[in-house]
Amino acid sequence: MNYNDKIEELKRQDLLRTVKNRDCRAGRTITIGGREFLNFSSNDYLGLASNPVIVRAAQNALMDFGHGAGASRLISGGTSIHAMLEEKTASLKGADKAVMFNSGYAANTGAIPALTDAHSAIFSDELNHASIVDGCRLSAATKYIYRHNDLNQLELLLRKSQSTNKFVITESVFSMDGDIADIYNLDMLCRKYNAVLYIDDAHATGVMGSGKGALAHFNVTPDNNIVQMGTYSKALGSVGGFAAASEAVVDYLFNTARSLIYSTALPASAAAASIAAIDYIEAHPELIVKLRENITACRRVLLSEGLAVTSDETPIIPVVFDSTVETLRISGRLLEMGIYVPAIRPPTVKTPRLRISISASHEQEDIERVVNALSEGILGSRK
Ligand SMILES: Cc1ncc(COP(=O)(O)O)c(C=O)c1O
Repeated sequence: MNYNDKIEELKRQDLLRTVKNRDCRAGRTITIGGREFLNFSSNDYLGLASNPVIVRAAQNALMDFGHGAGASRLISGGTSIHAMLEEKTASLKGADKAVMFNSGYAANTGAIPALTDAHSAIFSDELNHASIVDGCRLSAATKYIYRHNDLNQLELLLRKSQSTNKFVITESVFSMDGDIADIYNLDMLCRKYNAVLYIDDAHATGVMGSGKGALAHFNVTPDNNIVQMGTYSKALGSVGGFAAASEAVVDYLFNTARSLIYSTALPASAAAASIAAIDYIEAHPELIVKLRENITACRRVLLSEGLAVTSDETPIIPVVFDSTVETLRISGRLLEMGIYVPAIRPPTVKTPRLRISISASHEQEDIERVVNALSEGILGSRK
């Protein structure tokens, strides 16, 4: 394969990606290449990634346990801090037990193939995240992709399936579209067809249901047929993924999830930061209130400028464009104005878009600034 040709081809299609490295902490503003930008690109929805209380918790664990874990969890890589985080996660999610993975990506690529086999049937929303797609690819199950949030089509597929292990997988808050899956009716459907409901709660944890996630938001009680996957890396401002479920499911994952078994554990400091983040969110409900206010304000101003937004109130607000060139142009224009809103292009999404991520650390003037800049960039170009 000629990789230079491949890179040239990506360039021609405006699809070449480049890495942007910060010179500072993650926060409301970031510095890249010596220039400061107002940051609308992060999943740090509550502004906890650089919170001093959480950084100190990580520092303390670093001093007590050192940095490298030295081995995988099943050998000697785990610590009492890892176990404490798993207990806290289970309690946050209302589940019997939880297992921590090295990332949300590792959670999906480990848990999905572990919990399904050649007799299983996976039903996956067409817009599910790449880590779910990859988890499904690693699974021996038969796969069915249903149209985005189309519960009627899902029901038809479930009804037809003869599988004795039906496994429905959905994100709760879709990472690139910012809309919310109908978890209440998905749960009803799964009960009706005796299917497992596997929820990727990456963007709802710390945000919805007073921070507990989508099940709490929809008043759905966790039970043996629900697996709540999630990540500590978004609203919790930390790193690592998890699956919270029944004791049997979690014990089975410890024995079979390859991304857990065959990978060195995260350092105790990472787990300590996640514990501190969960405690912090519980002690500071005003953070989620502020996030909500910012989301509402941003949506209101975007709508008043005639820029379409999705119907659901989540921190992910996509502004979709017809072409990649146009998306890159507007994102570039915003950068010139000192505002960082990343352009999301294929293959991550089918339709190119700017993905505005709102955080509790934003101020009202930040929201006005991004929307004004956006409308100037978009509408200005159409004049
Ligand atoms: C829906 C969803 N699931 C899983 C992941 C992976 O999580 P992590 O970044 O912790 O690997 C992400 C993050 O990009 C995501 O958006």
